[in-house]
Amino acid sequence: MKALIWKKDKTIEIIEKEIPKIQNDDDVIIKVTYSSICTSDIHIVEGFVPKAIEKTTLGHEFVGKIIEKGKNVKLKIGDNVAVNCESFCGKCFFCKKGYVNNCENGGWLLGCSIDGGHAEYVRIPFANQALTKIPKNVNEKSALFIGDILATGYWSAKLTEPNKYDTIAIIGAGPVGLCSAMSLRYFKIKKIIIIDINNYRLNIAKANNLADYAINPNEENVFEKILSLTENRGADKVIEAAGKLNSFEMAWKIARANAIVAIPAMYEENQILPLPYMYGKNLTFKTGGVDAAECKLLMKLIEKNKISTDFLITNEINFNDIIEGYQFFKNNKDKCFKIAIKH
Ligand SMILES: NC(=O)c1ccc[n+]([C@@H]2O[C@H](COP(=O)([O-])OP(=O)(O)OC[C@H]3O[C@@H](n4cnc5c(N)ncnc54)[C@H](O)[C@@H]3O)[C@@H](O)[C@H]2O)c1
Ligand SMILES: [Zn+2]
Ligand SMILES: [Zn+2]
Repeated sequence: MKALIWKKDKTIEIIEKEIPKIQNDDDVIIKVTYSSICTSDIHIVEGFVPKAIEKTTLGHEFVGKIIEKGKNVKLKIGDNVAVNCESFCGKCFFCKKGYVNNCENGGWLLGCSIDGGHAEYVRIPFANQALTKIPKNVNEKSALFIGDILATGYWSAKLTEPNKYDTIAIIGAGPVGLCSAMSLRYFKIKKIIIIDINNYRLNIAKANNLADYAINPNEENVFEKILSLTENRGADKVIEAAGKLNSFEMAWKIARANAIVAIPAMYEENQILPLPYMYGKNLTFKTGGVDAAECKLLMKLIEKNKISTDFLITNEINFNDIIEGYQFFKNNKDKCFKIAIKH
């Protein structure tokens, strides 16, 4: 079968690999029907994800059909499923607390340290936890982001411990920032401020009612604007979903005292935490990889039209064109939010 791999020289290539086989009773093999590229895939190719293993098949955002299963798996052959970006046992110390990203037997494996979804077939471990059945009335493409960016947006929104009277600022109007915003709307947050250097993305956020205020730091003073919107206090909560050079500093600076700063962003450089300067601001930082444990709920919200990520699909290509797709996704933040790749 064909599979897309990355190499240490920062190139990607479609190669032939063996069709994967069931290895454990909890495994399934799925035939991928649609996949997408995540900004974290780009971080892997560029060598910024220490645990990623060279020549592993990329891709951790995909949907497909079960074609083979181990004897412990409850779903049926032929079921259409959304795949969780994380593989977790559901039984260990961390899983029992919902911290599935740190599962002692799994975590983020697919497309990182075991073969992922940019291929014709994939082996999915811990299938009972990792797969969510796509109901007949939900289009596969509508379920494509449940296991990664929507899960991340929802988790980031929950990290802020949202209260409907909060003013919540989101840095980055990319797919993760917008999924955070739609989750905050689901939590009935009325005052959402989105910050991005890209006006196209800010306009999409406003057009989809995901932001009440949009700020472009290249055009306005973000700090002054946030103060003017918050009676000079700063944002009650901040979600940092940009992950760029100055966005971490912006995140804690626009936060009010005692705020929660949630950081789903994955950085390519170390960040500075100037604790003496921050002393007295009494901030709570929450960081890291998504605990993608609520995909079944997210599927229900999509089924009931409470949340939709359909507008994020700006491009559609065939798997054979995936290498050009990576280039386009990386270089065209003006035109491209997410690509649906048909397998
Ligand atoms: N924590 C997780 O489990 C998880 C899951 C998925 C993605 N991610 C990470 O989340 C981050 C966001 O992902 P995405 O797909 O939305 O990325 P993206 O690159 O599409 O979006 C980032 C946005 O930030 C904007 N931006 C860049 N510099 C900025 C600045 N200085 N100020 C304000 N805005 C700025 C960009 O214009 C862009 O719109 C990435 O780092 C990605 O790797 C993390
Ligand atoms: Zn991802
Ligand atoms: Zn576990």
